This record gives sequence, structure tokens and C-alpha cells, in this order.
Amino acid sequence: MKQDQQTLTVALGSRSYTIAIGSGLLETLGTTLQPLLPGRQVAIVSNSTVAPLYLDRVEKNLQDSGFTTLPIILPDGEIYKDWTHLQTIFDQLIAARYERKATLLALGGGVVGDMTGYAAASFLRGVNYVQVPTTLLAQVDSSVGGKTGINHPLGKNLIGAFYQPKLVLIDTDTLATLPERQQRAGLAEVIKYGLLWDSDFFAYLEAQRPAILRLEQEPLNQLIQRSCAIKAAIVGNDEREAEQGQRALLNLGHTFGHAIETLTGYEQLLHGEAVAIGMVMAAELSEQLQLCPVGTVARTRQLLLAYGLPVSAPAFPVEHYLEAMARDKKVQDGTLRLVILTRIGSAELRGGLPMEAIRQAIVCHLQPQD
Ligand code: NAD
Ligand code: GLY
Repeated sequence: MKQDQQTLTVALGSRSYTIAIGSGLLETLGTTLQPLLPGRQVAIVSNSTVAPLYLDRVEKNLQDSGFTTLPIILPDGEIYKDWTHLQTIFDQLIAARYERKATLLALGGGVVGDMTGYAAASFLRGVNYVQVPTTLLAQVDSSVGGKTGINHPLGKNLIGAFYQPKLVLIDTDTLATLPERQQRAGLAEVIKYGLLWDSDFFAYLEAQRPAILRLEQEPLNQLIQRSCAIKAAIVGNDEREAEQGQRALLNLGHTFGHAIETLTGYEQLLHGEAVAIGMVMAAELSEQLQLCPVGTVARTRQLLLAYGLPVSAPAFPVEHYLEAMARDKKVQDGTLRLVILTRIGSAELRGGLPMEAIRQAIVCHLQPQD
């Protein structure tokens, strides 16, 4: 273990795994994986942006530890998180005669991670997989907890599986090459944890904003660790989003956000940006229904704006948003359930909310039409 490495555990009985967080951890990948993996075959799934930056280093490191490697490079973009490109992963695994003891390693952001995890869940009815997340969003959220899947043209993440990795290895140095807009999108999911779980963390994000936006190592490490710790605790309590469980709370702002992503064709806004707008709408809904203190929307909006995130949605007709939201995975018996805030630092999943209030929450945060 490296000196400055932090480790957390996602406690899921025999499927428990470690999240390793630190600078320079890519250099420890092969030795860390040696005792964890039963086979020698490792397919590294990455994309056309991340592979030129990190693939050589990862391949060499794995080969030095006795693994054989197969790079599978996907085109870069949320629009490729689809059935066609999942199939290209299977094509290459089958062509290379990959076996049951093989491992798929996701090297990239949430798109690569979600697709690799789903491929691992399905290939030969399940092979091992490892997450090496390289975006802030993937490091604080998508690489942890085993939600895997792809998009459908009619809705986001509608096809997938719960499937846990064997290891999440977060090398914080990879953030050095991440574009600023992507850093900010990742910060939206970090702010989400403060909003739904931890008011002290929310206050920390308010107070430390200048240092965080300068990407200073210390606060960045702190926020990755705190985010992963919250996610690990929630997933440990409720792996599969049970009806009365805590995991659904992690979807704060996501039903609105997924509708925004679907309507904009997955191209105009980044996932984290759509979630930022969605969290403002969720706060608006909560405040209008007097479920949280007055001022919650203003404080939420202010922090998101301070981190350079968007807080209003493209001006599609509200009916289009409601239609897209009706396809959300949390719809139960035809009824929409949404995560509402009870205050900064606490959230609940509620059904049976008045449709007029949901409509108003959207309308209040649409961009003005030209
Ligand atoms: P992404 O995977 O598209 O990555 C963002 C961009 O950054 C891409 O262009 C990528 O090529 C590039 N990139 C990645 N690492 C880089 C690096 N180190 N340097 C330079 N460029 C780099 O997007 P994302 O924000 O990481 O993930 C969003 C996806 O994650 C969405 O599909 C979302 O649905 C999913 N998600 C899943 C979960 C989950 O629990 N499984 C949670 C949240 C989000
Ligand atoms: N990002 C939501 C979840 O992992 O449950």
C-alpha cells in the first residue's frame, strides 16, 4: 500500500470490495490486482480520449504483474453508451477467446464504467470486473456501488444490472488531464451528497470553494474520500435500491436530470450538469410543498452557481419533461416517486406528490425562451 493511499470498504459480505484512493495508484494496479483475480486475462475497456493518455501505462503495469491484456477502445461519448457498442465489447472478447476467469477493467469515466460493468455482468453469465475511474464524477459516484448499464433512445440507463466490481482504484493524478467543464460536472454529484446526507459536508463545500476550484490536492482528496464514504455506507445498507431503503436517495435530482438528458439527446448537457438543474427543481418542489425550510432552493442554487454549474433547463414544453419523467425507473404502479429534501443534509423518497407542484418546479427553472 502506498503511504498516501486511503482505503474504504464497500461492505457486502462475500462481495465486499476495497476503494483505494490516492496519488500515483496506477503504478500499483498490477500488484493490487494479483491476489484479487483468479485468471490472467484482463480486457481494458477505454475510449478514444482516455486510452491515448493512460492505456500504455496501465497495460505495461498489468503485464509486469503477469497479466495478458486486450485493449477494447470505444468511441467517446454518452451517445455511444448503447446496445451497439456493448456488442462490440462482446465481439472482441469472443474473438480473443476470453474465458470465465477473465476480468474486464474499466479505464475511463462513467460511460466506460457503466458499459464495462454491464458487459462483465453478462459475458459468459458474469466475469470479474475492476473500476479505474478517471473523471471526478466516476471517482465520487459511478465507479462505486455496482449500478451498470446502457441508455435506450427513450430513456437513460433503462437497461442494466446491479453487479459489483472486485476493486475500485482511484488515482487522483488522472484528474490533471480532465477538462474543467468535466471537473465541475463531477462536483455536482459531490454537492448532491452534501444535500441529501451531510449538512457539514455541504458547509465544507461552501467554505472551501476557492481551493476546490483551484483543484488543490488536499480538499480534492477530502471530497473524493467523503463522497466515496457516504456512497459506500448507503450501498452497504441498501445494495439494490429496496423500496424503503436509502439508495434511492442518491437519485436526488436525477429524475428531472434524466428527463433533461433524454430531451436534449444526451449531447447538449453533461450528466452532472443535468443533475445540477434537477437538484434545483427537486429543492423547488420540496420548498413549494413546505417539506423543507424556506431558503433551501436559494442556498442550493447559490452553491451550484458558485461552482459554475447550470441551474435552469432548456425551454422544452413542460409536458415533454413530464412524459420523459414518467419513464423513470422509480415509477411504481404507474406513480412517479421523487426524492425530496427535508432540509440541507436530509432527503426522502416520496410518491403521490401533486402533479401541479411537479409541473411548477420545472416551469420555475426553465430557461427563458428567445
Ligand atoms: P464520461 O464517461 O463521458 O467522461 C467525460 C469525458 O471526460 C469524456 O469525454 C471522457 O473521454 C473524458 N475523460 C475521462 N477521463 C479523462 C481524463 N482523465 N482526462 C481527460 N479526459 C477524460 O462522463 P462521466 O461524467 O464520467 O460519467 C457520466 C456517466 O456516468 C453517465 O452515463 C451517467 O449515467 C453515469 N453514472 C452512473 C452512475 C452509477 O452509479 N453507475 C452514477 C452516476 C453517473
Ligand atoms: N448514482 C446512483 C446510485 O448509484 O445509486
